[in-house]
Amino acid sequence: MAEFADLLNAYDWKKEKHVPVIECGDRVKAGDTFDIKLSVGKEIAHPNTVDHHIRWVQLYFQPEGEKTGYPLANCDFSACGESTQEPDKDPAPAGHAMTVATMLNKSGTIFAVSFCNIHGLWENSKDVTVIPAGRKAASRDCKIQNG
Ligand SMILES: [Fe+2]
Repeated sequence: MAEFADLLNAYDWKKEKHVPVIECGDRVKAGDTFDIKLSVGKEIAHPNTVDHHIRWVQLYFQPEGEKTGYPLANCDFSACGESTQEPDKDPAPAGHAMTVATMLNKSGTIFAVSFCNIHGLWENSKDVTVIPAGRKAASRDCKIQNG
């Protein structure tokens, strides 16, 4: 039987322009709001035209030791080259990034998925450790990781 996972492509985001990049701290304090930035084409720009564009990105969170992943956010890039004047002369070209403010109460894995209208689905992931409230987080530096 074919599996949905077979549709997902994974690769080094520094060498492949479709792979979503997850940027946030490796360690966060339980209950503290922090930002997760998800972008596509961070190292190698992806086209943003009517014919070829990133249509959407999504973020999920899977708590450590649990089977279920929870949807955190999604973003549709609606203005991919669209214009009332002529194609690819859009006055507000969509970027390929979103930033989400969220909080976690358990350690786990953040998953990202992006969809290119020509090249399909791409994934990445990043582990995040949650420090119990009342203890100081050791580092809030962003570290980028490939899945
Ligand atoms: Fe593409």
